[in-house]
Amino acid sequence: MNPKKVTVIGAGNVGAEVANQIICRELADVVLIDKLGDYAKGKALDILTSASLKNSSSSIIGTDSYNLTKNSDIIIITAGFPRKPGMSREELVEANGNIIAEIVNNIKLLSPDSIIIMVTNPLDIMTYLAYKISGFKSEKVIGMAGVLDTARFKTFIAEELGVTANNINAMVLGGHGNEMVPIIDSVTVSGIPLKQMISPEITEKIIERTRKGGAEIVSLLKIGSAYYAPAASAVEMTEAIIKNKKSVMPAAALLNGEYGIHDIYMGVPVVIGEGGAEKVIEFNLSEKDFEKLLNSANIVRQTISKLEESMSIVK
Ligand code: LAC
Repeated sequence: MNPKKVTVIGAGNVGAEVANQIICRELADVVLIDKLGDYAKGKALDILTSASLKNSSSSIIGTDSYNLTKNSDIIIITAGFPRKPGMSREELVEANGNIIAEIVNNIKLLSPDSIIIMVTNPLDIMTYLAYKISGFKSEKVIGMAGVLDTARFKTFIAEELGVTANNINAMVLGGHGNEMVPIIDSVTVSGIPLKQMISPEITEKIIERTRKGGAEIVSLLKIGSAYYAPAASAVEMTEAIIKNKKSVMPAAALLNGEYGIHDIYMGVPVVIGEGGAEKVIEFNLSEKDFEKLLNSANIVRQTISKLEESMSIVK
């Protein structure tokens, strides 16, 4: 079987780490593209050398030429500005909107059958923009963030309980912003309801830390934002597509009335397989969580409006 072809756009911290993990896990051959072509080539050579030490037979090339991305199966978009300390993700909407528009115009010409995984912030809005510009079916444009936010949620719960995170079954829904919605009611620890294990006060602290998990790292790093976990999250989604795993993951998907929400991208449970976001799963939320989800949807909608004011393309 021919290896799949994955293009990673942006050779910055997230993009390079995504490429590295795909190559190390032998998931696909990778084209790493960046407007700084030599930078992408340098990263690719370094990753290729690392792969030789790990017995991976996957290949990687670095480039600034879109021609080499032709007929990719999956496109992972990481290009754009990260936020600075004190900034919200939403503040990046104009600067990154223009970058994403240009990228997606290239993708739709060269890889019209690909699946796009968006990583650039503000995540839900950039995913929506890619959907609109590409004209792809909504299943083929997915946003990474629920996997990341959920990984943070699980990590903080596990830390509190003194167990490993893979015992925690949990999900964070909504937009990838401060209003994201960690769903505490459905969290279990190997089947045991979390609510029976920790107090509401501690639960609140974990929810708050999860919501600000990205900002906590931004304020510590001072330059740039998190990248190991964002990259690992995008690679989990990539693997689910390549191996047709039918994994249930929280991811930004287009809502057509699910959860009573229309025509925005936002984090919901999705079945991910070879078709992309194959199915959005709906389940009953508590009234409180449902309200929070609608509030998060409103923030996403407001940021889309902000983007529409500055770009005619998404109207
Ligand atoms: C984060 C950024 C990448 O949550 O959105 O770390």
